[in-house]
Amino acid sequence: MKKNILITGGAGFIGSHVVRLFVNKYPVYQIINLDKLTYAGNLENLKDIQDKPNYTFIKGDITEPDFINELFTKYKFDGVIHLAAESHVDRSISDPMAFIYTNIIGTVNLLNAAKSLWTDFSSKLFYHISTDEVYGSLEKEGKFIETTPYDPQSPYSASKASSDHFVRAYHNTYKLPVIISNCSNNYGPNQFPEKLIPLAINNIKNNRPIPVYGKGENIRDWLYVEDHAAAIDLIFHKGKIGKTYNIGGNNEWKNIDLIYKLCEIADCKLNRTPGTSAKLITFVKDRAGHDLRYAIDSSKLEKNLGWKPSLQFEQKIEKTVEWYLDNEEWFKNILTREYEKYYERQYISR
Ligand code: NAD
Ligand code: TYD
Repeated sequence: MKKNILITGGAGFIGSHVVRLFVNKYPVYQIINLDKLTYAGNLENLKDIQDKPNYTFIKGDITEPDFINELFTKYKFDGVIHLAAESHVDRSISDPMAFIYTNIIGTVNLLNAAKSLWTDFSSKLFYHISTDEVYGSLEKEGKFIETTPYDPQSPYSASKASSDHFVRAYHNTYKLPVIISNCSNNYGPNQFPEKLIPLAINNIKNNRPIPVYGKGENIRDWLYVEDHAAAIDLIFHKGKIGKTYNIGGNNEWKNIDLIYKLCEIADCKLNRTPGTSAKLITFVKDRAGHDLRYAIDSSKLEKNLGWKPSLQFEQKIEKTVEWYLDNEEWFKNILTREYEKYYERQYISR
């Protein structure tokens, strides 16, 4: 069926994989990618699909309500997949306001446009992409389920939790058809090199120190980004209105073990003597309020909709390291002066 679908944040890491999947898989859909192109947005991520007839890119800011309303009026969206966000915990610690504007106010602007400009809610869907970080931090045992009480600990997760609450409130109050999914840490191509995996690979390549916060004992559950995109496709088409779905990789890694793994793969790909890259590991001051552990139970999504994460972490992480090592140009273009300054402030000065 023909549909106009708004994907926000489509030039970012996860958004670019979702846009590509939808543009290629659903030629009858018109995919409108709305992105402000902040430091994290990069149209190079989408150059292979940019000329497809069912793809439109619009540069714009979700914090501007008049502009959002105009877009809804012009394109009469059938569905929204909302990914646009400020997404990095460390940035949220140094500049929380940017997270409040984009993640909370931006989300509410989109909800307001859908509420007032969708005349008939039947067959519409507002799908909000969120994070497992809203549930807080786990000790050694247990996993987050969909009913785990919210307990966000960082300005980033507090802003995402707030946006999730607004999405649910609009469903409860105005009957807006919504779905939320909360996903664990993603890895794969196109991720801005401020996040652990691309940052570590870039530093390994350039013989820079690999900053490990604290003792490197924090644990994350890593999911390949294309698995997340596949889950989003499934939930968008088969998910139940008003429901929440957890998405996770069932793939927990202690940061330090993951970094050793990246070093080992990089040594092999760069023809370095085993152990060379690991010498770059540098323990630095811990992140303020650093969440110890995230782990997701995605059995609801697996049972109800038949989704499964791919079980090939070894191949996928190797492919990811290779992608970052090979894509010199991508790094050059994305590493702007702004980022270099940020990098120096965060790590070199520690
Ligand atoms: P990202 O930072 O790579 O991309 C975010 C995109 O949003 C960028 O293209 C940016 O230009 C755009 N954007 C930012 N502010 C905007 C604004 N005001 N108006 C319009 N566009 C704006 O983020 P990501 O890692 O791809 O995350 C995408 C979504 O998935 C986010 O909502 C994030 O909270 C969520 N999420 C991410 C992860 C992860 O591991 N990266 C895990 C779970 C959930
Ligand atoms: P990150 O990729 O920023 O994702 P998140 O904070 O959303 O989980 O960080 C992943 C883990 O790696 C987290 O425990 C913080 C840690 N980390 C480092 O040890 N060094 C780094 O340089 C970065 C960016 C993160």
